[in-house]
Amino acid sequence: MDLGRLRIDRDRLWRRLTDLGEIGAVHGPNGEQGCARLALTDADRDGRDLVVNWMRDLGLSVSIDAIGNVVATRPGSDPSAAAVMTGSHIDTVRTGGRFDGNLGVLAGLEVIETLEQHGIVTRRPIQVAFFTDEEGARFAPDMLGSLVYIGGLALEEALDARAADDDARLGDELARIGYAGPTPCPAAVAPAAFVELHIEQGPVLEDNGITIGVVTGVQGISWTEFTITGRSAHAGTTPMRLRRDPLVPAASIAVEARRLAGEMAAEIAGEIAAEIGGETAETGATGSQVATVGRFDVFPNLVNVIAERVTFTLDLRNTDDGALRRAEGHMMRFATAACELENCSLAARALARFEPVAFDDGMIGRIERVAAAQGNSTLRMPSGAGHDAQMLARTCPTAMIFVPSVDGLSHNIAEYTTPSDIDAGANVLLHTVLELANL
Ligand code: GLV
Ligand code: MN
Ligand code: MN
Repeated sequence: MDLGRLRIDRDRLWRRLTDLGEIGAVHGPNGEQGCARLALTDADRDGRDLVVNWMRDLGLSVSIDAIGNVVATRPGSDPSAAAVMTGSHIDTVRTGGRFDGNLGVLAGLEVIETLEQHGIVTRRPIQVAFFTDEEGARFAPDMLGSLVYIGGLALEEALDARAADDDARLGDELARIGYAGPTPCPAAVAPAAFVELHIEQGPVLEDNGITIGVVTGVQGISWTEFTITGRSAHAGTTPMRLRRDPLVPAASIAVEARRLAGEMAAEIAGEIAAEIGGETAETGATGSQVATVGRFDVFPNLVNVIAERVTFTLDLRNTDDGALRRAEGHMMRFATAACELENCSLAARALARFEPVAFDDGMIGRIERVAAAQGNSTLRMPSGAGHDAQMLARTCPTAMIFVPSVDGLSHNIAEYTTPSDIDAGANVLLHTVLELANL
């Protein structure tokens, strides 16, 4: 057949997305269906089992490594050639959707099934992988499995990570669900290339009426957990001057994070205006700062008790690492001063810190060309979310394909991408992988 006309089976891919989405399904009041499959829970195990069964049904050889990453391989004709890898993750946040991560894995499977169905042999092997604990919502850092896979974090350290919800040890949970595999991790050989299809998770493609995002890189990510300790006391009898209430500095830090992101955005807008006016901006941020306090735990969390302790997280991201460092420094100084003012103690623990990543120019150009050849509108864009591809980028030429998210929504049970956008993205993945596998 004319290989250029080869297309994936969109109904089969949609069916698999629907079936996998039933595992850990959560429902909203307006008929939304999302997914709660936190890493290494029973639901994660059930999702893994289903995907591994699909992999085996396709005759792929499936390896499970020591951190629970699963890699399925379809052989190529050249036994000495390194594999082209695709994939993503199937764990979700507690209030996640059915597409984040899952799409990249199931589209990879669909690519292989399409080649299989048409008897197409490639020179290189093709691998589809799902990596452990991409979300980092239960065990920090995010992208943990792919980070260990490429040797960026020691296996033992990762196995000792503790869950944010129940303090369970990652290695124990991995063994409990039956996914502490025999294959050594980090991986012995790097793939020839890695390409990941993912939903955008933001509004850029939809706002611009574009079907395919060609991802140029991923912004830097900084996660810190703060614990502020004061003194718990009676809400009615303790005079205001005697209070050491950790909620007061904690709340002001959350508000300051929001204010700082706004200020940095204004700074960037000013720089752009200055550049347009023919002046050169001297200093300041070039990235766009975002800041989130997403977890906030109060102890003892009672109406008539001044809190003893507050633990919360701060997620800072920027495409410019210098700007991100300035934001981190500012927030640390602010937190220290806010705690001093209330006579509380402050402890800060780094949960994740990843520099911005630039993807491979050749891969970016290839995806753009393949997407355009299929009649798609394309836009080069950075990723706001973290992805396994940013870890693989340390070992091999890597890039990503984005498809639109309706209303720009993700990490929300209402997350949705239309079947036709999924079809478009999976076909770009198909032909990108096919080209790479025959190089
Ligand atoms: C991972 O999905 C992240 O971007 O937080
Ligand atoms: Mn994801
Ligand atoms: Mn996610």
